[in-house]
Amino acid sequence: MNIISKDPSAISSANMPDYEKEYQEFSWDQAKEELTFFEDGTFNAAYNAVDRHANSEKKDRLALIYESDTGEKETYTFSQFKELTDKFANVLTSNGVQKGDRVFIFLPPIPERYIAFLGILKTGAIAGTMFSAFQEAALIDRLSDSGAKIVVTNSELFPRIEKIWKDLPELKKIILTEKDNLPEGENLISYHQEMDKASPNFEIAHMKPDDFAYMLYTSGTTGKPKGVVHAHADLLQAILTTKYVLDVKDSDIYWCTADIGWVTGVVYGVLGVWGLGGTSVVYGGRFSPESWYKIIQDHKVTVWYTAPTAIRMLMGSPVSPKQYDLSSLRHLCSVGEPLNPEGVMWGKETLGLPFHDTWWQTETGSICITNYPSMDIKPGSMGKPFPGVVAGIVDDSGKELPAGQEGHLALKPETVYSLMKQIWKNEEKYQSYFQNGWYISGDQAYKDEDGYFWFVGRADDVIKTSGERVGPFEVESTLIEHPKVLEAGVIGKPDELRGEIIKAFVVLKQGVEPSDALKEEIAAFVKGKLAGHAYPREVEFIDKLPKTRSGKIMRRVLKAKELGLPTGDTSTLEEF
Ligand code: WTA
Repeated sequence: MNIISKDPSAISSANMPDYEKEYQEFSWDQAKEELTFFEDGTFNAAYNAVDRHANSEKKDRLALIYESDTGEKETYTFSQFKELTDKFANVLTSNGVQKGDRVFIFLPPIPERYIAFLGILKTGAIAGTMFSAFQEAALIDRLSDSGAKIVVTNSELFPRIEKIWKDLPELKKIILTEKDNLPEGENLISYHQEMDKASPNFEIAHMKPDDFAYMLYTSGTTGKPKGVVHAHADLLQAILTTKYVLDVKDSDIYWCTADIGWVTGVVYGVLGVWGLGGTSVVYGGRFSPESWYKIIQDHKVTVWYTAPTAIRMLMGSPVSPKQYDLSSLRHLCSVGEPLNPEGVMWGKETLGLPFHDTWWQTETGSICITNYPSMDIKPGSMGKPFPGVVAGIVDDSGKELPAGQEGHLALKPETVYSLMKQIWKNEEKYQSYFQNGWYISGDQAYKDEDGYFWFVGRADDVIKTSGERVGPFEVESTLIEHPKVLEAGVIGKPDELRGEIIKAFVVLKQGVEPSDALKEEIAAFVKGKLAGHAYPREVEFIDKLPKTRSGKIMRRVLKAKELGLPTGDTSTLEEF
């Protein structure tokens, strides 16, 4: 096998030069020294990510370097961030926000969303984030389940909320971020007007370490998306993984390409990097090889955290990275879906640096299994458990399996500091993750003789398309709202570029003529109702869906049919 070994200078200069030693000696209790607690033992993640740096010699250091889609640049130091987030916290409390309330952010990538996120944490309210690609169906699920009190958005996105506001009795106010030409109406608030009036000093909420800080909706196999809730002190694992895995140092310019609507954008675009007092780049424009390479070149990015689909798009593009000066780069990481060995090697061959694969989930709150700057890479492997974290491959009864055997990828819950603290209003779902003393991830994997973990696939029907986690049920529910659709079954179909694409099998209502135009109409319908990324790129009409005798759609059978594989055990299947 093609092992990538690290050279001695890379090892000695890494924040964690000796993984095995660190793993042996590590304790979360000791690691807490990375955090600053208030004198009474309470805590606030935003104090740790902003105020403590603003009160230190780091005060004039850049926290955020922002470039918009049209190339305008803005920068914010930690002390500017302190003032702005204090002001925003005052704006929220003067509009009735209290500890424990949910405040959601629905914005494109602009600096205000970072100020809003940290300002919310300062008040003790729970911050929720959403992709700006979400349409009304996705929005209503999240805002009604969470009972959000305030949404921070802009005039362009506001009409989507306006449409559903009448069905959201708990949503009291909307804050709009533009300076001019704001829509007017009752309970519509101007961010800028309020910020201008607000005091630059805020009495930050003293939270218990386990009090809730943020929540993110994510998809499972069944039902609507679930609200995964994280606590303030979960910040510890975010900081430590940013330090030991992403290897961020004071001299670095770090770029995490993830959107804040995804957990990676929250944990590694906000909490980890600023918790550590690092400098982070945010690009407000869309992906293109040209624009991304230019961001690295112009801002002299040194540490880059991105995702396999983007890497594959760069690999397949005629635009060569050699046309840009990317010599500032020194460490590359990837997350979200399996990173093929080709991706790791492409980094090595074209950028002179291999990509380091990292594995984690919305529920785990931070990286759990990963590759390290000081550890040899086996391309295609997710690496080894983070210090403090105990991971195993287990069978259905929770028994650990020996090396080489495939099973459930599981974690000892008490060893994952940032593990979710709750599924919002759904204790049963929360409990279902924990079996026989393990947290069961829903992924299948195996471990090799050297302790490296290898991803095999999902144990359930969750779809990963371009790194985004999509629940088939959400897409099916939206499909059947189309007036010509009777029933639908949705699967992830393997795709070289996107990992998977969403494929829908659709049963039309009686008398409806199938046509290619109708396929397109149905796909566009889902795109317009649910989200820009959560629509079926392929639609196939089918006479009947495979179902269990109790009426559950058997997506496994649809998938087998699609891939030309045996359908497996169909004893519970209705005639198909
Ligand atoms: C998948 C993402 C293979 C996996 C931070 C997991 C991965 C799900 C990897 C979580 C990886 C994430 N290799 N698969 N390195 N990283 N996944 O919650 O199936 O959006 O369970 O969090 O993504 O997706 P989520």
